[in-house]
Amino acid sequence: MPSFYRQDGTGKWRQVSSEDPGYFPAVYADTALTTQVIDGMPTSSSSQPSLMFQMLDALDVQNGNRVLEIATGTGYNAALLSERLGSDQVYTVEVDRELVREARARLSSCGYEPVTATGDGRQGFTDGAPYDRLIATCGFASVPPAWIRQVRPGGIIVCPLGRGNARLVVGEDGRAEGRFLPGGSFFMGVRSEGSSGRIPYPGDPTEATTRETHINYLDIENDGMGFALSLVLPEIVWAHETSEEGVRTGCRLWACDGSWTRVQGRTVRQAGPRRLWDAVERAYDWWNGRGCPERERFGVTATESGTRWWLDSPGIPVPDMES
Ligand SMILES: C[S@@+](CC[C@H](N)C(=O)[O-])C[C@H]1O[C@@H](n2cnc3c(N)ncnc32)[C@H](O)[C@@H]1O
Repeated sequence: MPSFYRQDGTGKWRQVSSEDPGYFPAVYADTALTTQVIDGMPTSSSSQPSLMFQMLDALDVQNGNRVLEIATGTGYNAALLSERLGSDQVYTVEVDRELVREARARLSSCGYEPVTATGDGRQGFTDGAPYDRLIATCGFASVPPAWIRQVRPGGIIVCPLGRGNARLVVGEDGRAEGRFLPGGSFFMGVRSEGSSGRIPYPGDPTEATTRETHINYLDIENDGMGFALSLVLPEIVWAHETSEEGVRTGCRLWACDGSWTRVQGRTVRQAGPRRLWDAVERAYDWWNGRGCPERERFGVTATESGTRWWLDSPGIPVPDMES
């Protein structure tokens, strides 16, 4: 990592390289470091090493396995896989051409030559299929069906889904199923080439419905509820609101379809095609009523036709909170 980006006191991203103070402690710390910023949004990073090791541990590679990595980033994870399995068993796909070029050069300078390709990881990468293992290091809201087709039956997929990392085993029947690993996951979301993936604020709507909510917005901010919401209400931007004294006063939510919600105390205003807060309330009541389950109790079943969530066993589906 020749350099990374860090926000200064004003929120501006500043490049830090080996001549700068704090560079070495940062690159050797167990922390994620931003390595690319587009439109003021971090779009690539070197993942937190302990999180990567947890995911690699769950991936459980065996000698001779062929692995597809989605999201090359710096190339560090691809280097670890190449060291363990040999470069010729490793395929890695990254959406950003420039990052691919840099990662390829770095990997090569370390003596690794995995297949490093530019592409959209949602399509997988057919050249090396079928794979024994697939690991993704950018965030997804569902499991792309192409992955299930490209990983052999009995193969393992480890992937960030919402705010968790799931480990799925591919079956003979075209379904991949498994549970969430302990611990949070805050990967950068999957994006298209040239885009930061940012969902801009749609602006305050001219008309909105107003009502009172029975939940305190602070009650949904714990890890377990935040995780559950990330599954059932994906791809929503949350912005906290605070008073000048720094006291939390509410929040704002929006989505790329123009749905908008603002909560101030117990007052909720909503606009756009979806009533986001209605879904948040349904999700909170469901989660609370099940004893506030943590992420390890959740599981996922993915098929060609979609991804669904369950609690404790595949026979207990998490309901759709938006209908
Ligand atoms: C957290 S970084 C990956 C870290 C990397 N594995 C490492 O070892 O440094 C996330 C990466 O996902 C990439 N990405 C985002 N959307 C993608 C997509 N559709 N296909 C492939 N890569 C994507 C980003 O460009 C970014 O480099």
